[in-house]
Amino acid sequence: MDAPPDDGSLDPHFQGARPLQTEVKHRILEGYLWIWIRHLHRHHELAFIDACAGPGRFEHDGSPGSPVIAARFNDEQEIQDKEVRLSVHACESKPAHFAALRKALQAWIDRFPPCAFTYPVKFGEVLEAILAQTRGRPTLLFVDTYGMTGIEPAQLAPVLSDADRRYTEILVRVAPEMFGRWAGWIDRADEDSQWGRHARTMLKKLEGLGINIDALKNDQGAKDSAGLFYEYLKLFYRRFRYVQPLPVRPSHSYEPKYYLVHGTDSHHGAAYINDVCASAEDWLYERFEQEKAGDQMNLFALPTKRRVYAQDLEPTIQEILAEGQRSWIEVRAMLAVAHGSKFNARSHRAAAKRLRDQGLISWNPLGAIEDSSVCRLSISRGAGAS
Ligand SMILES: C[S@@+](CC[C@H](N)C(=O)[O-])C[C@H]1O[C@@H](n2cnc3c(N)ncnc32)[C@H](O)[C@@H]1O
Repeated sequence: MDAPPDDGSLDPHFQGARPLQTEVKHRILEGYLWIWIRHLHRHHELAFIDACAGPGRFEHDGSPGSPVIAARFNDEQEIQDKEVRLSVHACESKPAHFAALRKALQAWIDRFPPCAFTYPVKFGEVLEAILAQTRGRPTLLFVDTYGMTGIEPAQLAPVLSDADRRYTEILVRVAPEMFGRWAGWIDRADEDSQWGRHARTMLKKLEGLGINIDALKNDQGAKDSAGLFYEYLKLFYRRFRYVQPLPVRPSHSYEPKYYLVHGTDSHHGAAYINDVCASAEDWLYERFEQEKAGDQMNLFALPTKRRVYAQDLEPTIQEILAEGQRSWIEVRAMLAVAHGSKFNARSHRAAAKRLRDQGLISWNPLGAIEDSSVCRLSISRGAGAS
C-alpha cells in the first residue's frame, strides 16, 4: 500500500478503529518489548526508535499506536522498580500525523528526564544522529512504513553497517506481494517499447532494494514474490545472526498481509520473538474458531491448533548438538528460525524431554531449564553410535 496523499488530515487508516492485522502487529510489538525490557533491565537505559511512528492513536476508539505502546512501559511499576527507562525516539514526516503524535506522547516528552523525543522529518534524515545518541544502549529499531519506501538498503545502512552495536535489533515491515508485482517485469526489461521502458523503471526499484536483477534473469524460480523476498532478506542475513519474517494477518484463514522481519544477534531475542508471534497466531486462531462456532461455542472444546510435533523437532535438535554443546536458549533460537510460529517453547521442552528419556541427549545442570542461558544441552555419550 502506498501512502495516501497529504491533505492535512490523518490517513483514513487512523481515523477508524484499529484493524485486526494492526492489532496483531501491536500484540507482537508489545509482547516482545515486555520480554526484551525485562531481559535487558540491568542496562537501565534502553531505546526504541520508531522510524515511522504514525499519529500515536487511532481517532475512532483512542487505541494506542506503536510509539504510545512503547512509551507507556515507563509507567509500569515493575519497570520503575527496576529503574529502567525506555527512551522512545519517534519520527513522523506527515505534518498532521506529527501534530497528533506530539499530543499522544506529551506526557512522556514532559517527564524529567524525558522518555520520548519526536522528529518531524523522514527518519533517514535523523537516524544516524539518533543512533549516535543511543550508542551503548540496547536499541530496537522499528521501521513500519507503507509500501517499499524506507526499507531500501541505503535507508537502513546506518543501522546495518554500524558494527559497534551488539545490542541493536530491528523489526522491519515488508510486504512481499509488492515484490511479486514488480517481478513480472524482469522478462520485459529488454523490450524496445513503452512496456520495456516501464519495466526498466520498475526494475530500478528492485535494484534499489539491493536485489541483483542480472542474477535473477536466468532463474525462473526466483522470479516470484517468495524468491525476491528471500533475495531482499539477504540484506539482514548479512548483518544479524538470526533473521525471522513474522507473519501478520487479519484472520487465521488469510495469507499474511505483510511480515515483520526481525533481526538480532541474541539467542534470547530470536527465541522470544517467535514465542510472541506464535501466541499472536494462537489468538487469531481462537477468534476464528469462536466466530465459526457462534452459539455452539460452549458445547465443544476448541480443536487444537496445529503445532510442530515434538517428534519432528528431534532430528533437528540432534543435528544441532552433533556439532557440540549448546545452551538451552541457543537451541530454542535455532529451532524458532527453522520452524517459525508453529513452534514454541513448549514444543522445544517436550522434544528435549523425549530425547532425554530415550537417553539420546542430556542437559546440565539438571532441572535448570528455566535458566535457559546457563543450562547446556549435549548428545549423550555413546548415543548415535550404531
Ligand atoms: C504504517 S504507519 C505507522 C503506524 C505506527 N507504526 C503504528 O504501529 O501505530 C506509517 C507512518 O509512517 C509515516 N512515514 C512514512 N515514511 C516515513 C519516513 N521515511 N520517515 C518518517 N515517517 C514516515 C507515515 O506518514 C505514516 O504515518
